[in-house]
Amino acid sequence: MAKDKTLFYCSECGNEQTKWFGVCPACGSGGTCVEAPVSPRKAVANKKLIVNEPVSINNISAEKEDRISTGFSELDRVLGAGVVPGSLILVGGDPGIGKSTLLLQVCKNMAEEGRSVLYISGEESIKQIKYRANRMGEFSDSLKLLSETSIDTIEAVILDAKPDIVVIDSIQTMYREDIGSAPGSVGQVRESTNALMQLAKGEGIPIFVVGHVTKEGVVAGPRMLEHMVDTVLYFEGDRHASYRIIRGVKNRFGATNEIGVFEMQNKGLVQVLNPSEYMLEGRPKDASGTAVACLMEGTRPILVEIQTLLSRTSFGMPRRTAVGTDYNRVNMLMAVIENRVGITLSDYDAYVNVAGGLKVSEPGLDLALVIAMLSSVKNRVIAPDTLIFGEVGLAGEVRAVSNVEQRVAEAKKLGFGKCIVPYVSLKNLTKDNDIEIIGVKNVREASELV
Ligand code: TYD
Ligand code: MG
Repeated sequence: MAKDKTLFYCSECGNEQTKWFGVCPACGSGGTCVEAPVSPRKAVANKKLIVNEPVSINNISAEKEDRISTGFSELDRVLGAGVVPGSLILVGGDPGIGKSTLLLQVCKNMAEEGRSVLYISGEESIKQIKYRANRMGEFSDSLKLLSETSIDTIEAVILDAKPDIVVIDSIQTMYREDIGSAPGSVGQVRESTNALMQLAKGEGIPIFVVGHVTKEGVVAGPRMLEHMVDTVLYFEGDRHASYRIIRGVKNRFGATNEIGVFEMQNKGLVQVLNPSEYMLEGRPKDASGTAVACLMEGTRPILVEIQTLLSRTSFGMPRRTAVGTDYNRVNMLMAVIENRVGITLSDYDAYVNVAGGLKVSEPGLDLALVIAMLSSVKNRVIAPDTLIFGEVGLAGEVRAVSNVEQRVAEAKKLGFGKCIVPYVSLKNLTKDNDIEIIGVKNVREASELV
């Protein structure tokens, strides 16, 4: 009797092996081996052989695709001007962050435009969805709900109803009957995504798929899930704060690292069209240790407030924490200040916070961090209408950053009167009498400004 066959998958990269492995031969990660039944190959014997001929690149018409608006300009920009028909879009994020809420609102907007929309939930009953929807106001009749977890049934429903847009909430609850393992397992997630991919591409229906994330912040299931889909969006934000950020980390149809900013209110998510103003709300104007920095999120400059507190340590080991930015970068900048400016910081505790809860990793933040820390140590207030950006190198030099003009324009828009920028970037700026621009060459010069 033939034994039920199983294969071993790497939960990190999706690589399959016939034998158990300790370290994945493909990606080298350890302890990621999971066993799953072999997915049966569908019979292809009676399939007609379609001869697909190569076509000259000049004979392919590629008019701008008709993008479908989600009704949120913040989300459309992250997607690259709207949803592309036939694309598969993965939306990841922590539980309770608002994935289902956002997608239900997207469905609502699209249905109002007269499109037929199908929202399929494997997590909630249609009553529960309706309960959530009640807070959002009136819905159009062309939005249909379905509570279902079988991909085979879903496939049949989609092929029958041919909706204009489909939402699957969430991929971890979906299963295919011909695969033995439990929903959420590597094999199921992989094959379910595959089936949805074929549906999206074959029928030209855009499909949004919700994916849960693990503790480490990646979409649960094989990493390969991210490779399979066209677009990956991540929902970020502090669950206790009301703002939410949606970030594009992969996009076959647009730029990545664009962000959209939303606020969770009691009637659902509301887009925040002026995030800089939002991030700077309630900022103290006469406290030392704070400075305003400018970062580029995709094509848009965003101002954030950097707060630092340096106080003499009462123990031998100084404490250092960084919230919203890279801890190692903060340590590096403190070492640069010690060495290149000559201020001893080794007996200071340092607390760094990017107010507003945004997570930032741009090197353009360095100069503002340095100036904020110097302001805290010297207990001198930075004028509240000052904007600072620039990268700091190990030699203490202030290096150029991109999009200087755009950052200065954002500062002007928000009523800032002064910008501290890298000296080397001055040549990229045209003379402007409305705003004072100060170029600094190194951290020593920056320290003299504080
Ligand atoms: P939800 O969309 O269910 O999160 P996910 O699908 O990512 O798990 O979000 C639920 C949270 O949002 C919940 O804590 C309640 C809150 N919420 C509001 O504050 N206002 C609203 O109008 C809605 C619908 C939800
Ligand atoms: Mg949900």
